[in-house]
Amino acid sequence: MKINLENIFEFVPKKQVYALREELNRNQQLLHEKSGKGNDFLGWLNLPSSITDSELSQIESVASDLRSKSDVVVIVGIGGSYLGAKAVIEALSHSFASMIPHSGNPTVVFAGQNISEDYHSELLEMLDKVRYSVVVISKSGTTTEPALGFRLLRNHLEAKVGKAEAASRIVAITDESKGALRKLANQEGYRTFVIPDDVGGRYSVLTPVGLLPVAIAGFSIRELVKGAADAEQQTAPSVKFEENPACLYAAARNALYEKKKVVEIMVNYNPKLHFLAEWWKQLYGESEGKEQKGIFPASVDFTSDLHSLGQYIQEGERMIFETVLTIAEPKTKLNIPNDPENLDQLNFISGKRLSEVNRMAELGTILAHIDGGVPNIVIEIPRLDAYWVGYLLYFFEKACALSGYTLGVNPFDQPGVEAYKKNMFALLGKPGFEVQGEQLRKRLE
Ligand code: PA5
Repeated sequence: MKINLENIFEFVPKKQVYALREELNRNQQLLHEKSGKGNDFLGWLNLPSSITDSELSQIESVASDLRSKSDVVVIVGIGGSYLGAKAVIEALSHSFASMIPHSGNPTVVFAGQNISEDYHSELLEMLDKVRYSVVVISKSGTTTEPALGFRLLRNHLEAKVGKAEAASRIVAITDESKGALRKLANQEGYRTFVIPDDVGGRYSVLTPVGLLPVAIAGFSIRELVKGAADAEQQTAPSVKFEENPACLYAAARNALYEKKKVVEIMVNYNPKLHFLAEWWKQLYGESEGKEQKGIFPASVDFTSDLHSLGQYIQEGERMIFETVLTIAEPKTKLNIPNDPENLDQLNFISGKRLSEVNRMAELGTILAHIDGGVPNIVIEIPRLDAYWVGYLLYFFEKACALSGYTLGVNPFDQPGVEAYKKNMFALLGKPGFEVQGEQLRKRLE
C-alpha cells in the first residue's frame, strides 16, 4: 500500500506534518503499553497476529454448514456489527452477484441495520420463497434495531421450518456471558461465537463479527487476516514515523484539521468501495466526533458524484480535504471499441482500456481540486482482493486510534450514541421513561 501526502504540502507545510512525529510516537507507546484513554478496548490491536488456525477453521466450518443449507443468509446487526462485513463483501463480490445464477454462493443480505417496515416486510416476503439461515450479531445483545430484526426473522423462520430446524439455522455472535442475546442463544441452543470484551463494535471486523459473514459469502478469511497481519506489522511502533502509513495518515489529517480543514471526504473511483467508505465513516465519526471537536468524515463515489457534489467540492466552502482510495490494477480488462461512424466523437480513445479513462479522470480531478483549494491524500492498493482489503481494514483502525489520541479524545467510546436511544424509548412509552416521554411529546405538539 502506498500513501502519498505530496498534494497536501501546499496547504500545510511538510515541516508542520512531520512536526507531529514525536506526538505520534508517544501515541504509539500509549496504545501498545495500554496506558492511554479507553485502554480496556485495545483487543483489536493484535487480533490479526493472534487469531489461531483453529479459530479460523471453526468459523469456516460453521460458514460451510450454513452455505450448504441456504440460498440466502441474513446477517442481522447494526453499526460495528454490520458495516465491516458489508464493506468486505461488497468490495470482493461481483457487482451483479445476486443476478448470476448457480454461483455456488448463497446471497448474503442484511437486516436490523434499520427499522424500516417496508425493508423488513419485503425481506420476509423474499425469504418466504427461499431456503435461508440467520446470523445475528450484537455485542451488547440489547441493541433495539437488530433485536427487532431478529425477532421478526426468528418468528418467520420458526413458522416456516419448525423450532428445532430453525435453531440449527441460527448462529449468534455476542458477549460471552452478558446480554439478552446470549441468554436467548443459550436457551434455544444456537451455535455461538464470542465478541471479546476488549474489542469495541467498530473495531470488530476481524473477529467472527466480520469473518463469519465474509466466509459465508465465499471469500478467504485467511487472506483477509494475512493482509491485516501484515498491516499490523507495518504500522507497529518499531516502524519509524516516515515509513509508517498509519502515523503518516494520522499526522496528515490532524495537521489539516489545524488548518481548519474540518471535513474529510473519502473518494473512490470504483463502486465496490462504497461500503468500505461507509465502514470508515463509522470508524472515524464515532471515534473522533466528541468533546465538540473532530473531522467530519464524508464520502463520495466518483465519477458519479462529480456530477453532483463535485460542484461543491470544487467551489463551495473551503473546509474540505480528500482522501482518495485508489486501486492500481482492476480485476478485468475492457477495451473501448472503435466506431466507424464516430458520432459520439470518442474514437480518439478507442482501443484504450476503460481503466485508463478512469485513471485520467482521477488524476485530472485531483489537480482540479488542488487548484480549487482542496488538499488530497492518496492511498493506493495494488489490487482489490481479500489480502488488500484486510490490509486496509487494519491500517484504518490503527490510524484512527492514533489520530484520536492526537486529537486528544478517547477513540474507543461513543457516549453521544445514547441520546437518540433515550428519546426513542421515551416516545415509545418504555417503562422507566415516563417523565421524559411526557416532556418530549409536549415539545412535538
Ligand atoms: O461501534 C460501536 O460500538 C457501535 O456502533 C455498535 O457496533 C452498534 O451500536 C451495535 O452495537 P451491538 O453490537 O452491541 O448491537
